[in-house]
Amino acid sequence: MTEDVLVVHGGTPLEGRIRVRGAKNLVSKAMVAALLGDTPSRLYDVPKIRDVEVVRGLLGLHGVKVTDGDEDGELVFDPANVESASTDQINVHAGSSRIPILFCGPLLHRLGHAFIPDLGGCHIGPRPIDFHLQALREFGATVEKRPEGLHLSAPNGLHGTKFALPYPSVGATEQVLLTAVMADGVTELRNAAVEPEIIDLICILQKMGAIIKVHTDRVIEIQGVPKLHGYTHRPIPDRIEAASWAAAALATRGHVEVLGAQQADMMTFLNIFRSVGGEYEVTDTRPPKLGDPGQEGGIRFWHPGGELNAVALETDVHPGFMTDWQQPLVVALTQARGLSIVHETVYEQRLGYTEALNKMGANIQVYRDCLGGTPCRFGRRNFKHSAVIAGPSKLHAADLVIPDLRAGFSHLIAALAAEGTSRVYGVDLINRGYEDFEAKLADLGAHVERP
Ligand code: EPZ
Repeated sequence: MTEDVLVVHGGTPLEGRIRVRGAKNLVSKAMVAALLGDTPSRLYDVPKIRDVEVVRGLLGLHGVKVTDGDEDGELVFDPANVESASTDQINVHAGSSRIPILFCGPLLHRLGHAFIPDLGGCHIGPRPIDFHLQALREFGATVEKRPEGLHLSAPNGLHGTKFALPYPSVGATEQVLLTAVMADGVTELRNAAVEPEIIDLICILQKMGAIIKVHTDRVIEIQGVPKLHGYTHRPIPDRIEAASWAAAALATRGHVEVLGAQQADMMTFLNIFRSVGGEYEVTDTRPPKLGDPGQEGGIRFWHPGGELNAVALETDVHPGFMTDWQQPLVVALTQARGLSIVHETVYEQRLGYTEALNKMGANIQVYRDCLGGTPCRFGRRNFKHSAVIAGPSKLHAADLVIPDLRAGFSHLIAALAAEGTSRVYGVDLINRGYEDFEAKLADLGAHVERP
């Protein structure tokens, strides 16, 4: 077995072209949605990442036959024989991902009961599931917390409800959608999240036969139907991965074309990228014609030379600046002249990774105050959730240990931007969300090796 460490010889600009596939944070939910159909579903462009493997394993345990389709990245789900799985079997997946919580509604509809193991996912704060459980109870589910996990049942079926989320949580919105589509009656969800991945999940559910209206002001209305069928879907591309490579291009003074990246889903990122001083060009897809093979579109990102500018930004729910874009971009901000301010308003503890950047020569201070923007719910709760980045700083190599997925990618970018040879430990965590990242690094001319 290779050691879980990557040796990175930094200081070389990343240059070349890579491709992103279906968004991790949609694909895993689309796979869960397949449980709701009474005929097979087909999903294209599924990346080979660990989260997909976890959901595939859980679906298999519940009797869903998952097979590879003809096209690379195509998966077919046959839910004809959905069945209960033992808690021991399910618990093999405990701690590996957050997705199991989204099995609640579909399993309650199909089997009348569900068991959910201890959740995993990135350690970026407490990540409670209170909104999920509150929503499920509103639908009429009973939830029993036991040491081994959650046992749910719906002895009287699931019924539409009117419900407002205390915060526009992505996962809780998905929980409501996956439960309401087959609940008896109408559900009205207020203060819902409306991320592009959620809209794409709504598209999938609509293809399956659901009736879902997205109103203005974060209100989603779902009219339950008794039956759904399978879907065929090509998911939206991964805008987090695309932005991660864009940040890597900027931090290493390189030039990276991300095929598949979509402007519409990344507008807020692109605005900040341009304000920092990065350049980009959107290349549209040219469909194939006789004598012309066509060309896949994407976005080219590059550092135009000279100095980068400091910026103030605040992470937020869509259409704001995504929290998952924050860590990769902060590495580039260490190279900008002046004081940049980052106010993290989605997670209370997502700035811990800055310590590693400081070890490499960055100058980043974290604060408990809500800096640079509107007061958020963490200011009153005394969390270090704002950062001031003073730059430019010359980054030097270091030994780094990856704490979570996105911070992990930022460590990698920092090592690539730094002078000298770094050792990045725990890199396998990056496989949770970045398909073939080592092959992509090689395509971009990075000097990395397994020891
Ligand atoms: C999804 O997590 C993504 N994960 C995250 O991506 C992403 O950072 C996040 O949405 C925000 O965009 C997946 O889609 C698998 P939330 P989710 O519920 O759904 C609080 C990545 O790296 N909250 O929108 O778990 C919560 O603590 C990952 O790809 C409650 O208080 O996020 C957080 O502060 C990391 N109670 C805020 O809401 C609840 O019951 C937003 O969380 C649920 C959430």
